[in-house]
Amino acid sequence: MLVLGIESSCDETAAAVVADGREILSSVISSQIELHKPYGGVFPELAAREHLEKIEPVVNEAMTKAGIEFDALDAVAVTQGPGLIGSLLVGVSYAKALAWGLDIPFIGVNHIEGHVYSIVFENPPVEYPALALIVSGGHTNLFYIPEEGKYKIVSRTRDDAAGEAFDKVGKMLGLSYPGGPVIEKLAREGDKHKIKFPIAKISDGRPDFSFSGLKTAVSRYLRENSVEPVKENETVSQEIKDIAASFQATVVKSLLINVEKLAVELEPKTLIVAGGVACNGALREAAENFGAKMNLPVYFPSKHLSTDNAAMIAAAGYFHLKRGERANLRMTADVTLRLQNFENEDAELKRKKVRYRL
Ligand code: KG4
Ligand code: ZN
Repeated sequence: MLVLGIESSCDETAAAVVADGREILSSVISSQIELHKPYGGVFPELAAREHLEKIEPVVNEAMTKAGIEFDALDAVAVTQGPGLIGSLLVGVSYAKALAWGLDIPFIGVNHIEGHVYSIVFENPPVEYPALALIVSGGHTNLFYIPEEGKYKIVSRTRDDAAGEAFDKVGKMLGLSYPGGPVIEKLAREGDKHKIKFPIAKISDGRPDFSFSGLKTAVSRYLRENSVEPVKENETVSQEIKDIAASFQATVVKSLLINVEKLAVELEPKTLIVAGGVACNGALREAAENFGAKMNLPVYFPSKHLSTDNAAMIAAAGYFHLKRGERANLRMTADVTLRLQNFENEDAELKRKKVRYRL
């Protein structure tokens, strides 16, 4: 079965053709990073306009690269949310019109579920229950997945997403957007033990994440130690590299603390780590070490499938298609779409002594 996936929730216009939910025939991504660089973050109105310009050429390129005609498609899957409304609407409207014109099923996919499916292409099949850490620029959540397609959020960020923290600290240090990849590069030459940044403790004891305190701690450190941000074309000082390494190590540690706590409680058979921040080598290494210690297989997407792409949307769409799910033409973009459908089945979690409620 051939599914065309379309993704336009944030600053990437992407289209991909995936066969039987596992084989990528083509995956085209048009990134807007250069467009948003001067603003140090995504400018929503510009993003929507750029999606509008790119959607048709990107879809056409995906079809050409897959070597198939439109009438060979079995379904169109599109990111329904969460994301930026103007951006989402471009993909949803385009996908809807295309599916209607071809008279084939049309499926709305939750972007976060897409990230969960980004690991299917290069890993063995997932064994359930699974635990999935989804870390990106907009989201930082841990999901308990008792069986395929069922999700319960067991940990989430109380403030910033992990990728957002990388981007904001990158901006403070005078680095280019997005901060994550640049910080990772500098951190390789820095001493992660040099500065002790705090790990947030959530006062009600829930295993949630919080990154805004860490961001403030970096800002205070810069001020108190009179550290100047990096200027363009200037060599980066050892001090900045040490800050990058210490900050990155703190983010990784805070992510792993909760993964560890919940893995012990929930006894998953697979750990999934996906989303843009899953590109980070230090996070991969820490998750792999943890998996080895617990005898728990850890699945990551390859780096080009960690950040936003449409192959993961097509793969998630295929799963829904197989289950006979279809969206109708009234379906529209939903910026606050949640990924949680395990609300009424808490018995299993109670048995596993999960004490909290979200
Ligand atoms: O998944 P994604 O492309 O978009 C969202 O759905 O948000 O993730 C983008 C985020 C950005 O915040 C970026 O800084 C972060 O992923 N990121 C990284 C790395 N590569 C991308 N963070 C840390 N280390 C990296 N190597
Ligand atoms: Zn994403």
